[in-house]
Amino acid sequence: MAAWAAVAARTDKITGERATIPPETPATQFVEESRYQDAFGVLKHLDTALTLAKQGPLAGLAELFEAVLPELRWSQNPSYTAENCTPEFLDGYAYASFSGPEGPILLEQPRGGFLLMGPGVAYPDHEHLASEVYLPLTGNVEWRLDQAERFPVQAGELVRHRSFQPHATRAGDIPFLSFVGWLEPGDRASISFSQAQ
Ligand SMILES: [Fe+2]
Repeated sequence: MAAWAAVAARTDKITGERATIPPETPATQFVEESRYQDAFGVLKHLDTALTLAKQGPLAGLAELFEAVLPELRWSQNPSYTAENCTPEFLDGYAYASFSGPEGPILLEQPRGGFLLMGPGVAYPDHEHLASEVYLPLTGNVEWRLDQAERFPVQAGELVRHRSFQPHATRAGDIPFLSFVGWLEPGDRASISFSQAQ
């Protein structure tokens, strides 16, 4: 898959290390773990995000993503609710899986998909067991690791999160579209918001 090839071709922006991509492991069963909807508010930014992504360093990947979009379903983590998230976040983010326990390519690992966030939307500090890579297709994003200082990330820069490393992102003045992959098996229920420090 082209997205994983693009990850394998890069080194982590912070550590300079290369991500080790696991061999594909078929999932033994389909597990529905997401909240699905075709009308997430953030989807109004999808066309702009794709246009910008196709002008960036991962234009080829953006075109492949656009081509398979009809086969993907946009979703949210059902643990994210009005009780623990702002309306801006719930209206401002969605994820489309292309491999994982919900398919469309049924794999236990690696899990992969695309995250979309609207301009200015902040994904709060969170963490999970599986180590993870992000490969942004659009830029002007602020990143935060370990609840420390924010730093800018541009399109084409790889960011890796260790197991249970708190991480947060905030889109700049343009929509944020990124490939997201998990390097180990895991489920969405294992994602939790980090405790405030
Ligand atoms: Fe994550």
